[in-house]
Amino acid sequence: MNPPPTRIEDRFFVGITGASGVIYGVRVVRALAILGYFVEVAITDAGYRVLQIELGMRIDPATRDAGALAGDAPVSRIRIFNNRSIDAGAASGTYPLRGVIVVPCSMGTLGRIANGYASCLIERVADVALKESRPLVVVPRETPLSKIHLDHCNRLAWAGARIVPAMPAFYHLPKTIDDLVDHLAGKILDAAGVEHNISKRWGVLSKPPGDPGPRPDLEDDAAPGNLAPGDLAPHDGEGCDS
Ligand SMILES: Cc1cc2nc3c(=O)[nH]c(=O)nc-3n(C[C@H](O)[C@H](O)[C@H](O)COP(=O)(O)O)c2cc1C
Repeated sequence: MNPPPTRIEDRFFVGITGASGVIYGVRVVRALAILGYFVEVAITDAGYRVLQIELGMRIDPATRDAGALAGDAPVSRIRIFNNRSIDAGAASGTYPLRGVIVVPCSMGTLGRIANGYASCLIERVADVALKESRPLVVVPRETPLSKIHLDHCNRLAWAGARIVPAMPAFYHLPKTIDDLVDHLAGKILDAAGVEHNISKRWGVLSKPPGDPGPRPDLEDDAAPGNLAPGDLAPHDGEGCDS
């Protein structure tokens, strides 16, 4: 169990639900822990199942050992809560949390958050983030999107959430799935206001001290920052943020 919270700046809550793309959630949890944050995690029943299907990651919902989720990240900074524990600290607006990230977010969970259901810990913590005006980043994954899905995304954005769809980008010339995952994880951390350099930024190659990235295998001539202006960019490269 990680130590009790002291400062709001120290702690994030990450919800992993049963949408495809649980690898994004794993990457975000590990990056936050490596960057020095305490990460409180809850996983829906469907989320446990998709972790097993897509990553072969078996986490026992009864014991919720965080070892597999942590990987090489410091496990002491990660704690998995029972998603039915609506009495957990993070369920209260008084609890010190820097932000909440739901990644990946199923359309079911997204719809329930958008309508204030708060029927489990993840939905409650997201609901509290909205009422307390705390950063809430939601990473929906579904395609195609129905009008109901779009309406729920719009409703959440209207209420103050940042919607970061799990849409991979290609302008950074990814070579591996990890490259694609890191890029989206970087966008998620950006939306959560976390300083990091786990992914390449357009035109920027330097990395701040203490950051886990960029990955060494991305340091090559094909990196976007090493291209001559106009080689790849649709314009002169300024303001490329998609
Ligand atoms: C392998 C797998 C992939 C899935 N991918 C998605 C998805 O991308 N988006 C989605 O909304 N639901 C997806 N689902 C369905 C959800 O898991 C299902 O709607 C579930 O009830 C969501 O519950 P939760 O919101 O409590 O996690 C997937 C299910 C499985 C088994």
